[in-house]
Formats: sequence, C-alpha cells, structure tokens
Amino acid sequence: MTDPATLALDGKGFEYPVMSGTIGPDVIDIRKLYAQTGDFTYDPGFTSTASCRSALTYIDGDEGVLLHRGYAIGELAEQSSFMEVAYLLLRGELPTADELKTFSTTITRHTMVHEQLAAFFRGFRRDAHPMAIMCGVVGALSAFYHDSTDIHDPVQRTIASHRLIAKIPTIAAMAYKYSVGQPFLYPDNSLSYTGNFLRMTFGVPAEPYEVNPAVEKAMDRIFILHADHEQNASTSTVRLAGSSGANPFACIAAGIACLWGPAHGGANEAALNMLREIGTPERIPEYIARAKDKNDPFRLMGFGHRVYKNYDPRATVMQKTVREVFDALKVNDPLFETALRLEEIALNDEYFVEKKLFPNVDFYSGVILSAIGFPTSMFTVLFALARTVGWVAQWNEMITDPDQKIGRPRQLYTGPTQRPYVPVGQR
Ligand code: CMC
Repeated sequence: MTDPATLALDGKGFEYPVMSGTIGPDVIDIRKLYAQTGDFTYDPGFTSTASCRSALTYIDGDEGVLLHRGYAIGELAEQSSFMEVAYLLLRGELPTADELKTFSTTITRHTMVHEQLAAFFRGFRRDAHPMAIMCGVVGALSAFYHDSTDIHDPVQRTIASHRLIAKIPTIAAMAYKYSVGQPFLYPDNSLSYTGNFLRMTFGVPAEPYEVNPAVEKAMDRIFILHADHEQNASTSTVRLAGSSGANPFACIAAGIACLWGPAHGGANEAALNMLREIGTPERIPEYIARAKDKNDPFRLMGFGHRVYKNYDPRATVMQKTVREVFDALKVNDPLFETALRLEEIALNDEYFVEKKLFPNVDFYSGVILSAIGFPTSMFTVLFALARTVGWVAQWNEMITDPDQKIGRPRQLYTGPTQRPYVPVGQR
C-alpha cells in the first residue's frame, strides 16, 4: 500500500488515496478534492489525468512499449491476425482455434449493410472527403439497427459491437468506390476480413479479383498496429460520448470525427503529403529548419507523440512492412528513401533529440498505403477502420465499469463577472 498523497491548501492538510495498477504510474484519487477543498484541478489536454481504469492497453512511452492485454505489439503484429487481436481486445484473452473460427464467422455474417444505406451515399458530393462520409454514414447506422442500440442490454451491446467491426470495412470501401464513381461491391464472405476489404475496395463487379496474399498480410498487420492505443483523443471522445448513454453507433461516429484531425489520425495523410512536398533528400534540411522555427507553424508530420518519448514500436513494424510490400508489388517509391533519410537527419538533430521526437506510426504508413493503391484521402479511413475495434472494446469496458459517470470536466472561468444587461438601444 502506498501512503496517501497530502495536499496543503490555505493552511489545511488534505489526504488523497494513491491507487496502483498492475504496471505504470500510480494514480492519485482526487475524486473528493472539490467536495473537501472547493477547488478544481487544471490539466488541459489531460497530460497528468487518468480519466478511467482500463485493462485493455498499456503504453510505456519512455521505453517504447505497447501491450494489448499484456501482449507486445511486435509479437501480435508478427504472429497473430487482426481478427485474433479484435477478439483479444474485446474478450480479454487470445482465442483458441475454435473460438477464433466462431468469432470470425460471426463477424463475417454481419459484413453486409442495410440496402438502404447505399442510397444514403448518393446524398454526398462525389468529391466529399471519405472521412466526412464515414462520420455521416457510421452515425446513421443507429437509424438502421434499432435492435442493437439499448446499451443496458449486454446482448444488444455484443451485437452492436460485432456489427460495427464487421460493417466498417464495407462502409470504408463504399466511401472509396463512391469517390471514384465505381459501383459498390457486396462483401464476399469466403475471404478473410482483410481480403474482403481489399476486394470491396479494389475489385470491380465485371471481373474476378484475386487478393494478393502479401498485400493482405501487410494490410492485416497495419490494422493490428492501429487496433487500439489506450486513452488517445478519439478513444476518449468515444468514452465521453458514451458516458451520456449515447448508443454505440453514435459514439463511434464521434470517435471518427475526432480521429480526422491532423494531430491525430489525419497525420498519416499529412505525413505523405509532406514527403511529397519535400520530394528529394536534398530538400530535407530546409524542412528540418522550418520544423524547428518557432515562428513557422510547420511540424514534421509523423514525428512526435504525446506518450512515446522513444521510438514508437508501431513505427518499427511499419518500416519493415514497407520493404515487404515493395517486394511483393515490385515497386520502389523514392519517397521511402526520402523518409528514411529524413528520419536519420531528425534523429541526429539536437532539437529532435532534446524534445524526444521520434517517428510515430504514421510516418511510414502512408508510403505503404500509397504503394498498395490507396489515395491519401483514404489513409485516415483505414485508421478508423482498424481503431473501431479498440473504440468498441473501450466503450464496452466503460459501460460495465462501476465507477463510470457522465464525463463532465470543470473549468477555470476567465470571462466577465456578472454585469447588468444593457438594452440594444443604449449600447
Ligand atoms: N515537429 C516539430 N516539432 C515538434 C513536433 C513535430 N512533429 N512535435 C512536437 N514538437 C515540439 C513542439 O513544438 C513543442 O516544442 P516546445 O516545447 O518548444 O514548444 C514540443 O515538441 C512538445 O510538443 P507538444 O505539441 O507540446 O506535444 P504534444 O504531446 O501536445 O503533441 C503531437 C503531440 C503528436 C500532437 C505532436 O508531436 C505533433 O503535432 N506531431 C505531428 C503530428 C503527428 O504526427 N501526429 C500523429 C500522432 S501518432 C498517431 C495518433 O495517435 O493519432
């Protein structure tokens, strides 16, 4: 047992219990702080605040460690499949072969979307960003699946979870097809989760589509790398939306909206755009100088992380996967060389060393996704597709947490104090 934390305020002393997890920093339980002291805490960006307990994912940012239910991301990426990781995150343990088969079949059975949902797409402009479509269409799922929106019913929660994981690749592929003016493809449930998604994205009804096993494996691995990441902005958004009792489809739509931003999931798109803008290794110093310039808003996209102050373990796997995809597709994008050189220069630059800025998961993902054939506008959609598993698992964990309350932060008010209303004619 750790001694309680003491706080001295206005000459009085207060004690707060210290909670310990299985690993990671202890947490000071300040739930009674306001009742006892009349004061709030101030922590914009939640840099020192644990918003919940969670048994799903653990990150040690200093050591560059990422564990899902205790399993290292590197091992999962090398040896498991996305369906296995989905099961692990949702149920807490790795599945047996039979459990995995049953789970995969269950997910497969939910891959089709309501036929009327296809009509919904026509309301969007053809040039709409696919993330805009994702926010709208995923949000609309609660209008189609009324029988799985009762959050108090564990069976409905499970069905909604399966539906979201199963339908998100179908919706993502439809968003892509709509943007290129091609017909939607129905899912082919004889394929794997990832193979099915590739076919719905790149296949056409006029001819058979053969899934390239190396691309399928790489894509599956990319999904694993993005499956969950503790209490990041979009996951916290899902939890916050869910804390009010909103249905899971609405909560995941909120998560997608948050993920879209360039500081979060939108960074993979921004990172590739940045590499394209830099073009050749000779121009790297110019961009490094811009990233270091306090008066220039430019940042090296795909670099830096709130939690990792070491190499992001997902970036290590991602870098390796680039070579595998290039070999499988017999392509060689010179931007990969630019990326490697940029990494090398940045990692030897005092500014980046001192601030502990390392490549994150998004630095190399764009190069791979582009080689596979995805336009940059689809990159964040792929992140959303994979992260849906984590969001759903975190949402389920939150709903069953006895400590769960509606999320309602406080504030430090800096506006005017009360003043009399002045009628418009007298202003
Ligand atoms: N390039 C240049 N300088 C940077 C960068 C960067 N990419 N990232 C952080 N810094 C500097 C920043 O200017 C600040 O300097 P100072 O202390 O002198 O003011 C210092 O490093 C700390 O940055 P911060 O913004 O206070 O740190 P944060 O924890 O709030 O931000 C971050 C984390 C990921 C938003 C930020 O590193 C960033 O904007 N990176 C680029 C976008 C990116 O790649 N995002 C993907 C994150 S991984 C995928 C995901 O989880 O969504």
